[in-house]
Amino acid sequence: MNIERLYAERTKSMRPSEIRELLKLTQNPEIISFAGGLPNPASFPIREMEEVSKCVLQRYGKLALQYGPTEGLRHLRENLANRSKKDGIDATAENVLITAGSQQALDLVGRIFINPGDTIIVGLPTYLGAINAFRSYEVNFVGIPLDQDGMQVDVLEEKVRELDKKGIVPKFIYVVPTFQNPAGVVMPESRRRKLLDVASQYDLIVIEDDPYGKLRYEGEPVKPIKAFDDEGRVIYMSTFSKILCPGLRLAWIIASEPLIRKLTIGKQAMDLCTNTFSQYIANEFIEKGLLDLHIMKIIEMYKPKRDIMIECIKEYFPPNTICHKPKGGMFAWVTIPGKIDTEKMFFDAIKEKVAYIHGKAFYVNGGGANSMRLNFSYSSNETIREGVKRLGKVIEKKLKETS
Ligand SMILES: Cc1ncc(COP(=O)(O)O)c(C=O)c1O
Repeated sequence: MNIERLYAERTKSMRPSEIRELLKLTQNPEIISFAGGLPNPASFPIREMEEVSKCVLQRYGKLALQYGPTEGLRHLRENLANRSKKDGIDATAENVLITAGSQQALDLVGRIFINPGDTIIVGLPTYLGAINAFRSYEVNFVGIPLDQDGMQVDVLEEKVRELDKKGIVPKFIYVVPTFQNPAGVVMPESRRRKLLDVASQYDLIVIEDDPYGKLRYEGEPVKPIKAFDDEGRVIYMSTFSKILCPGLRLAWIIASEPLIRKLTIGKQAMDLCTNTFSQYIANEFIEKGLLDLHIMKIIEMYKPKRDIMIECIKEYFPPNTICHKPKGGMFAWVTIPGKIDTEKMFFDAIKEKVAYIHGKAFYVNGGGANSMRLNFSYSSNETIREGVKRLGKVIEKKLKETS
């Protein structure tokens, strides 16, 4: 049977996630993997999870095992709205939609906004999962370079003006303003406000993806872009994946009521509702104060991991390597000197039993060839030392070969 001729046109733009494909290679337990964006499994609150699950089943069993509303559990939505008020976001339960991970939220955004051939704006580099989610809706990407303060908003403004002159109106700007994946950088408040001004001037939506905001190891928090949004043009999303555990597959969107209604209709056809049991569990974690305790615990666990990784990069990588210490999140973003293509070097690294994600995977314009993303949350402190040392040797060898 010729199945190819039956596939929908849009499947041509669907690509397998390079991260997921590469992660398969890193399954070998001898390989030290800095590749995935995985939380540390030693942080998972298994004992608390056992107690909370038992309590949920005893108290709410008949509801927790049933289908729930598409918008999500009312109490959870209220609690998330209240928590977001502390970050300066003015929201009620009506502004919250619970999703099966932020990945579903990204897909939903694509589903309700993108027509084939539409243009959207993303960072250079940006989160690969977002590129893949939007790409499957046959979108054109326009990339805006990042610097140490995140997306360069002056360049954004220029680009949007240029597009406008050509009669192209981008649908939205996708941005990860806090501890960006993969670059680890944070946009200061002034840039956040400026980005919103540009969006307002050209009547664009802003998709603010914030999985890492609470994982801050130093410095003062910066309010989400959503906190400055008085026109209802920001769709904010965050997730329990990095602050509790990704296995719950639980995240949330905060947006204006009309947008939440539209997104909810989009979600109804996808999965009817998000895992009800997970929602009850997450809600108990919030109400018992366990979530905040857990966030404190992972900050304590990840901060020294970040320090070790950055120190080891300084020690073992070539002298002209560029790697700024991220103030939070889960990644070190490294640019190495010379003409090394980190995509090709990946297989040399695998031979030395160490893995990373090559920079090009995060660029919609083919850039980033000499960069790589290293995750520091997953590995043990000792493994981080050993892995960075191995990688340093791989780079040194490659530099000699290419010079
Ligand atoms: C920037 C960003 N957005 C979204 C996601 C997806 O997270 P979730 O597990 O909630 O689907 C990730 C996961 O790594 C991420 O880094």
